[in-house]
Amino acid sequence: MDKQAFSEAWGQRAKETFTKDVLESLDKQDRKLYDKIVVLGPANLPPVAREEYNVILSNMDNIYSTAKVHPQPNISWSLDPELTDIMATSRSYKKLLFAWEGWHNASGVPLKEYYPRFVELSNEASVADGFRDTGDYWRSWYESPTFEDDLRTIYKTVEPLYLNLHAFVRRQLYKHYGPKYINLKGPIPAHLLGNMWSQTWNNIYNMMIPFPNKPNLDVTEEMVRQGYNATHMFRVAEEFFTSLGLEPMPEEFWDKSMLVKPEGREVVCHASAWDFYNRKDFRIKQCTTVTMEQLFTVHHEMGHVQYYLQYKDLPVGFRRGANPGFHEAIGDVLSLSVSTPKHLHTLGLLSSSESDPETDINYLLKMALEKIAFLPFGYLIDQWRWDVFSGNTPPDRYNSDWWYLRWVSALPEHFDAGAKYHVPGNTPYIRYFVSFILQFQFHEKLCAAANHTGPLHTCDIYRSKEAGAIMKNVLQAGSSKKWEDVLMDALGTNKMDPTSLIKYFQPVLDWLEKQNKGEILGWPDFDWTPPVPEGYPGDIGKELALSLQLWLICINCLYCKTFLNSINWSNC
Ligand SMILES: *[C@@H]1O[C@H](CO)[C@@H](O)[C@H](O)[C@H]1NC(C)=O
Ligand SMILES: [Zn+2]
Repeated sequence: MDKQAFSEAWGQRAKETFTKDVLESLDKQDRKLYDKIVVLGPANLPPVAREEYNVILSNMDNIYSTAKVHPQPNISWSLDPELTDIMATSRSYKKLLFAWEGWHNASGVPLKEYYPRFVELSNEASVADGFRDTGDYWRSWYESPTFEDDLRTIYKTVEPLYLNLHAFVRRQLYKHYGPKYINLKGPIPAHLLGNMWSQTWNNIYNMMIPFPNKPNLDVTEEMVRQGYNATHMFRVAEEFFTSLGLEPMPEEFWDKSMLVKPEGREVVCHASAWDFYNRKDFRIKQCTTVTMEQLFTVHHEMGHVQYYLQYKDLPVGFRRGANPGFHEAIGDVLSLSVSTPKHLHTLGLLSSSESDPETDINYLLKMALEKIAFLPFGYLIDQWRWDVFSGNTPPDRYNSDWWYLRWVSALPEHFDAGAKYHVPGNTPYIRYFVSFILQFQFHEKLCAAANHTGPLHTCDIYRSKEAGAIMKNVLQAGSSKKWEDVLMDALGTNKMDPTSLIKYFQPVLDWLEKQNKGEILGWPDFDWTPPVPEGYPGDIGKELALSLQLWLICINCLYCKTFLNSINWSNC
């Protein structure tokens, strides 16, 4: 039986069995389970519509996973590995632009015709479950009436970090690309930040290193030199989990996971972890390559599987994260330890574990390129999607609202949101923002449990059974309790709170503020655009100028829209 048929059968049965009187007699836990079981989602749709919904999802997935860029008629670049590599390693303005533009055209544009109908059907299903729309349903997982306000407040608190990082990165890029392509008072062109979506910037760390004479904290080359492979990377991650007293990966995991990209068949390479809900079969699908960034992804995905393993004996309805952000945070919490010079030394990937203020700043800047750069991105994707589901952003404004543009009709046939996996893949996104805040709260608590002394960013919880025990309690609770209560039990607070994150990054914030003396923070020249490079591939060159504007404006305008709640540019 497929998942929708299963949900329908059991959900309907629950609705029939539990009449109002019976419901009132249920205890709190059973009532909570009941509430989860009766949400049918797409199983609410009548058969024809359900089929249509499934076909659309599968078409979107197919388009995304098979999209290619052709730099020449007989050459094709996939997102994984070619385009991802180019974005990470190329420092050619033109080549990066070509890769960026090519991907957004190849993946986003063909998705555009499917998405509006998908939104309609998805909303229909959510309304049948008693929600206003699908965004309302997604937010319900956080069980908090102030959720949206809390997020905004958190973002405002961490914003100085982002603005200072942004100004510093812009100055360094200016040194490389020059005044033609970088305006020191403008937004940064999106294709120069080392990642297809500019969501994390750690791949351009080698252009940003504050103290280049200190040891290289990006150990990718060392991993390659030592002959690391995918299996070994997963074994390294597993060993960290077991060092905390957590579970090893079961045999089935090693037999059935897909840890490298298979030859001769199209797969979605976007890394993911799978719970088959039979208490034995848990898998990861990842096109693992040997890089430091991928080593963190391995920990991230294995964090999901560790959660599955720990809550496998709860009723199926409770086999979830306390909220979706918890699920995303577990592996990342470990990575905060793994990435420290101290731990890299333990792994034999760094010759010295010595810490001095300059190495610390190098380290923290590298972490900021990953963790701070992500915050606005993680926050904004679902601001857009919630508006799409609620109807505030109708199909003809999908792209303009994505970039939050004035010239609405510039490229309505584009659909750049579709170029990001989680949109065609229909995965909610605010969980990642929540995770990036929570993981630092957990890190601080686990470090205290591990008797760490010294600055937070030097802490490595490796081998701390005490830290592992705290984590285990969180994982074993699944979603059987309110997330606030799970957090209270583990950390002694029931609030998401960026204080730990700020404490962690404080030394590099102080340093950045010094570097940024005389620098303009933000982007008063928000409508500045760089020129199209000379000799840029002719066929898309013209359109390109427009798309570039779109993206440049984006960071600025989503920002205005969300934080100042204003579409008036002069207020930006
Ligand atoms: C991966 O590396 C491990 C440890 O170095 C080694 O034992 C194993 O044979 C390697 N696997 C492959 C497929 O190369
Ligand atoms: Zn994840």
